[in-house]
Amino acid sequence: MPATSANLGPGFDALGLALALYNEATLETHAGVAVSIEGEGADHLERDEGNVVVRGARAVYERLGRPFPGIKVACVNRIPTARGLGSSAAAWLAGIVGANALLGSPLDRDTLLGLAASGEGHPDNVAAALLGGLTVACWSEGRVVAASLPVPPEIRWVVLIPEARNSTAEARAILPETVSRADAVFNLQRVGLLLAALRDGNAALLAVAMEDRLHQPYRRRLFPWMERVAAAARSAGAAGCVLSGAGPALLAAVAGGAERVATAMESALRESGVRGRAVVLEVDSVGTIWEAV
Ligand code: HSE
Repeated sequence: MPATSANLGPGFDALGLALALYNEATLETHAGVAVSIEGEGADHLERDEGNVVVRGARAVYERLGRPFPGIKVACVNRIPTARGLGSSAAAWLAGIVGANALLGSPLDRDTLLGLAASGEGHPDNVAAALLGGLTVACWSEGRVVAASLPVPPEIRWVVLIPEARNSTAEARAILPETVSRADAVFNLQRVGLLLAALRDGNAALLAVAMEDRLHQPYRRRLFPWMERVAAAARSAGAAGCVLSGAGPALLAAVAGGAERVATAMESALRESGVRGRAVVLEVDSVGTIWEAV
């Protein structure tokens, strides 16, 4: 399962981008729950029924009306947890796709996507993690409708990963229930522009196309260093720089020297008194893959 960056600025709860940084999970039928975790999250993720991979597996059994006997799960995690990089989407998919494969693949892809989006509460990360590439996803009449689009190779993606974790629930609770028509229109216009810019590889449009009024203005107070780091990214040549999902990671789109942007973002974060690192990641165009052994 790839890491994912949701929203890309204006596409709140709709857009997702799959990135080439992967978690792996091995599932075996088992009486009772047994979970092992290596890598990211090994020090704090649950290893019992509350583990998200286990909850995903259970959701498949429940959907099929079968009793859940338990599951043995071995995770190798490379996606940092609670940073806005889709670690929980990857975990839901590991359980859901893995259990479905164990049971002979009775559920189709759209059903798996719907189960994962229900678990997550929003479809953007899970759509990108399942399908790969740049995805647009929405709920419609109880199911998730999603499309995956290619991403131009001339745009490169820098991800700044602060050491501090963030709660997605808290970063969603901070948002207003309703927004003005002006703000809704502002974002609609930019999502359209963003998809056109990415279709054409037109980086010149990204500075405007990645603007947002629906979530980042409210979340900035959780991340007081964000403006400074985003400004440093732009000065170093980034076309746009936004919160990755609910944060605290940032995503910068760059046409050209991505390494220079990464260095500038790291320095600005450090000067703000926050530890972290920046990495240049390729886009994953494959999504979640599984094999039965
Ligand atoms: N669209 C979600 C949000 C993504 O911004 O809350 C969470 O990773």
